[in-house]
Amino acid sequence: MFPELEKVHDDAKSSITAITDAEALQAWETAYLGRKGAITLLLRSVGQLPKDDRAAFGQRANAIRDELEGLFRDRQKAIEDIALARSLEEGEIDVTLPGRTTPTGGIHPATRTLRQIYDIWADMGFQVFRTREVEDDETNFGLLNIPPHHPARDMWDTFHTTTPGVILRTHTSPGQIHAMRRFAPGPIRVILPGMCFRYEQISARKEIQFNQVEGLAVGTNIRLSDLKGTITAFARRMFGAERKVRFRGSYFPFTEPSMEVDVECFCEGKGCSVCKGTGWLEIAGCGMVHPVVLRNGGYDPAVHSGFAFGMGPERITMLKHGITDIRYFWGNDLRFLEQF
Ligand code: DAH
Repeated sequence: MFPELEKVHDDAKSSITAITDAEALQAWETAYLGRKGAITLLLRSVGQLPKDDRAAFGQRANAIRDELEGLFRDRQKAIEDIALARSLEEGEIDVTLPGRTTPTGGIHPATRTLRQIYDIWADMGFQVFRTREVEDDETNFGLLNIPPHHPARDMWDTFHTTTPGVILRTHTSPGQIHAMRRFAPGPIRVILPGMCFRYEQISARKEIQFNQVEGLAVGTNIRLSDLKGTITAFARRMFGAERKVRFRGSYFPFTEPSMEVDVECFCEGKGCSVCKGTGWLEIAGCGMVHPVVLRNGGYDPAVHSGFAFGMGPERITMLKHGITDIRYFWGNDLRFLEQF
């Protein structure tokens, strides 16, 4: 018997039973089996023993080392099992927890109004006809009876491109020319929605980009009364059947006569900050298509007539919801957008 060997053996065996984590087990292994561990040191000291004891000592020490190595592996396995069991328990899915909601986007308020506008006009037989946002000066102005240097050009401050004569459309009215040239001399009932661009100082009332919805009806025997009735029907669907509508004489180079359309303000004529005390809100410009424009589109004004209108969806949205600043539309502020 070698008491120092047996002492290490007993210490090691008793201390390992209390170990429950990998770190402590590692320390245990270092203390007994490591390069400077107790068993290792004892094995190295064999040479200092009396010759007769060496073989027996070595044998016993090796047996103890093998046994401790076995204990170490068993403990290691046990600790891994405990850790696995614990992680399974902790990671268990609690089916009673409420689910995490995925944030979903919504339809932009301008798009909602656009779709509403499409629906109303579709019911009256108007189809959507899309035309370009980058236009030539001639189609945006010239063919609409606004020759170069005409003072009416001041109504549309223009973004020019580096290519002379190529501009961003300032209104959807040039779409009238595209539609007429496509369908002449046949009848037309279309709306032309889309982005328009103006070189403006941005303010609560003015943006450099905004939508318009142009309307165009061309055929025979189309009269001013058709325009008034059609626009009135639209306004009543958009703003409510009780809402009063009024037409005011105005001027646009591409219509004759020209009018502006007002609907009764939500203050019911009392006068408020939205209508600036007038009791009326402007929603569109309109008129009978000018003979020059009809001819430019390929129609004979002696045979054909038509009406046109142009409305602003953002403006209509502002009126409907009492929005006082147009910059919200393209400001990308979720606090604004999430309200719709
Ligand atoms: N294009 C005009 C604008 O941007 C709006 C407009 C007025 C369109 C009268 C029309 C119209 O078709 O008949 O101010």
